Amino acid sequence: MSNFGRLFWTFILLLNSYSKSRYFIVFLKMLSIENLSVSVWEKEILNQISCDFELGKNYCILWKNGSWKSSLAMTLMWNPKYKIMDGEISLDWKKISDLSPDKRAKLGIFLAFQNIPEIPWVKLFEFLKWVYDNSVKTTTFMEFKKIIEPILEELQLSKDFLWRDLNVGFSWGERRKLEILQMKLLNPKYIILDEIDSWLDVDAFKVVAEMLKSLSTDENSFIIITHIFTILEYINVDETIVLERWKVVEKWWWEIAKRIKENWFKK
Ligand SMILES: Nc1ncnc2c1ncn2[C@@H]1O[C@H](COP(=O)(O)OP(=O)(O)O)[C@@H](O)[C@H]1O
Ligand SMILES: [Mg+2]
Repeated sequence: MSNFGRLFWTFILLLNSYSKSRYFIVFLKMLSIENLSVSVWEKEILNQISCDFELGKNYCILWKNGSWKSSLAMTLMWNPKYKIMDGEISLDWKKISDLSPDKRAKLGIFLAFQNIPEIPWVKLFEFLKWVYDNSVKTTTFMEFKKIIEPILEELQLSKDFLWRDLNVGFSWGERRKLEILQMKLLNPKYIILDEIDSWLDVDAFKVVAEMLKSLSTDENSFIIITHIFTILEYINVDETIVLERWKVVEKWWWEIAKRIKENWFKK
């Protein structure tokens, strides 16, 4: 090999190792969990979990009922029940483990709850306006009405909903649509979907899944928590993370996960 050839291949090798190193990675935007250990009721539930969720890629976190998936989602968004014993959560290289949920939301994290709570005495309009004013910009009553009404129409939700108590008596399809409405209002970067297929009938699920699909761009990431695969037929996933017995046991590319779809719970 000529001197030039040697020099060329040395350069390529150096570039390759550099691109895989931390120095290169710092240019990527991501939600990161590093060696995270969490306890609840004095019991350790997550042990030394590490995962990176890169902006622009979609992820699936997968395992059976009761494997602490929702607990992980709550910890990412904040919940007083879950105590971080060790490790860090960071967003675009800033540590966020000590931040309150509203600050995390402002930074672009959004959690669609597995069980969406009913909140009596709070009107939907008041709730949405409060969220928007505190995250995007302050609006007057009329300004916000002009912002919110077209989105309601687009999602085929009645304007009357604005004057009902938050989620009280709403069907699950309507509650999910209201979460999508919040996503449209806030344009979050990291969207955690915690088993959003629970409670939806087949038709409502299709509508919601199509809406979510239309929200997926290169500027956001879906982190889809599920123990069934249907939602993945709508949103393409770049990586599948398997969570078992408090550990990330495997990380799979979607193609491999798809192959075991039929036999998943027979394993
Ligand atoms: N309030 C509670 N008291 C006792 N156990 C609970 C409570 N809430 C959740 N758990 C238990 O925590 C475990 C993990 O729950 P969760 O994070 O919701 O799992 P997943 O989302 O994977 O189904 C389950 O075994 C569940 O029964
Ligand atoms: Mg759950």
